[in-house]
Amino acid sequence: MPTLKLDIRTSTVGSPDLVTFFVKGSPLPAGVPASEFDGAPSSTVLLRDKSQRTLVVGLGEKEKIEPDTLRRAAGAGLKHLLKLGSTEVALDLAAFADHVGPAVEGAILASYKFEGFGKDASKNTRGVLARLQILVKENELIRARVQAREAEIIATTTNTIRQIGNLPGNMLTPAILAEKAQELAQGRAVTVKVWNERHLARDGFGGILAVGQGSVNPPRLIVLEYRGAAKRETPIALVGKAITFDTGGISIKPGAQMDEMKYDKMGGLAVIGMMLAAADLKLPLNLIGLIPSAENMPGPDAYRPGDIITTRDGKTIEVLNTDAEGRIVVADAIAHARITYKPSAILEFSTLTGAVIMALGPRRAGMFTSEEKIRDAFVAAGKSTGELVWPLPIDEEYRENVISEIATAKNTSFREGSACSSASFVKLWAEETPFVHFDIAGTAWTTKPPAHLEFGATGFGIRLVIAALRAGLPV
Ligand code: BES
Ligand code: MN
Ligand code: ZN
Repeated sequence: MPTLKLDIRTSTVGSPDLVTFFVKGSPLPAGVPASEFDGAPSSTVLLRDKSQRTLVVGLGEKEKIEPDTLRRAAGAGLKHLLKLGSTEVALDLAAFADHVGPAVEGAILASYKFEGFGKDASKNTRGVLARLQILVKENELIRARVQAREAEIIATTTNTIRQIGNLPGNMLTPAILAEKAQELAQGRAVTVKVWNERHLARDGFGGILAVGQGSVNPPRLIVLEYRGAAKRETPIALVGKAITFDTGGISIKPGAQMDEMKYDKMGGLAVIGMMLAAADLKLPLNLIGLIPSAENMPGPDAYRPGDIITTRDGKTIEVLNTDAEGRIVVADAIAHARITYKPSAILEFSTLTGAVIMALGPRRAGMFTSEEKIRDAFVAAGKSTGELVWPLPIDEEYRENVISEIATAKNTSFREGSACSSASFVKLWAEETPFVHFDIAGTAWTTKPPAHLEFGATGFGIRLVIAALRAGLPV
């Protein structure tokens, strides 16, 4: 990832291209015919195209401006200018000092695009953002610098995670993911421990091992620790599913769009991003990140429907469908979190079910918890970050769907509220620990990107969790 120079100033230095923001109803900038520009959110119009470009970006009506309005508008502005080849951009936020954070986030997020591995590098016609200037009034400089710096940490971390997320299954195996986690933790206040297949067997992680046993790429458990508070402070545990590729296993998936299952690792990657961002922001709390990672493949060694497997805490799972693999690896990691760290809460992120996409679509993640205060905190964090969450039920009714006659639970409940039943399944492994499950199957990657993102991995969850933790999650 190229390094970016971020400057907070009262006026531009050098000759950056300029982005100004336009509120509906204010007088149109000179030279812009009303027929060409109505100021709708994230619409753009280029004023001059000489040595220094000026791009006007609409914000819509004043009363409706939210943090996400600026996030998207700044993203739209950056994308437009980068396509023209800009490398230095200034955002005029003199009238929007309250939204410096979201605007910087949107600009940096929009500056990332997965370029892939085509051999024709010249096809990459976008400019690379080298310098971003933020213009505010003199009396806002100090506050703006803090906001911008924090937004920069969050957005650049998210872009790093998106880049790894966009790598396909042959380039990103569980072992490679573990190495990446170790590399990223270098020089940061994050420690990493990795369980290989022998360690997993020694410690009784029957779930992670079963899901991974069909692949030549062996599974891993990656555990990250960040200690930003006193030792005696109880940590919060973040758990994320990282299936590097999900074929469905013996219960194999249909072929159409199966390539998208390379994104089945995004829960785990988001957790890595949360840990890195929390450390860089020096959040005053203790966090443990647990990422169970495996490749779900069919083959002579693969686990099979009917198998009964034993997880880290001695609970058993009757496998009815090997494509419901996420809840199995996550169960192991949740058990480990609970037993080893006794956390005050477990927050778990997984691309767990197609059903949540049917229910909520691509813009909202399903959130399942019986903790009302935590639920409200995440709804609020969702609004401020634009990473929206929607509460869905997790209760006795759904738990009945996963009761097994011959094990602690069975891993499917076909056509019986799949998203809610799987949430109730994973909650069994949290026992009495306050627990929140986020089903990010719809939000982890995008094929119709909003103005501040591009096709591919979104990094969903990083901004949400950081915002919720900073607001003081009621745990
Ligand atoms: N990784 C999938 C869920 C998924 C599907 C994510 C589509 C993103 C897009 C998960 O492992 C899965 O296969 N879930 C099954 C569960 C079923 C077999 C009970 C599903 O939702 O179909
Ligand atoms: Mn699956
Ligand atoms: Zn999966």
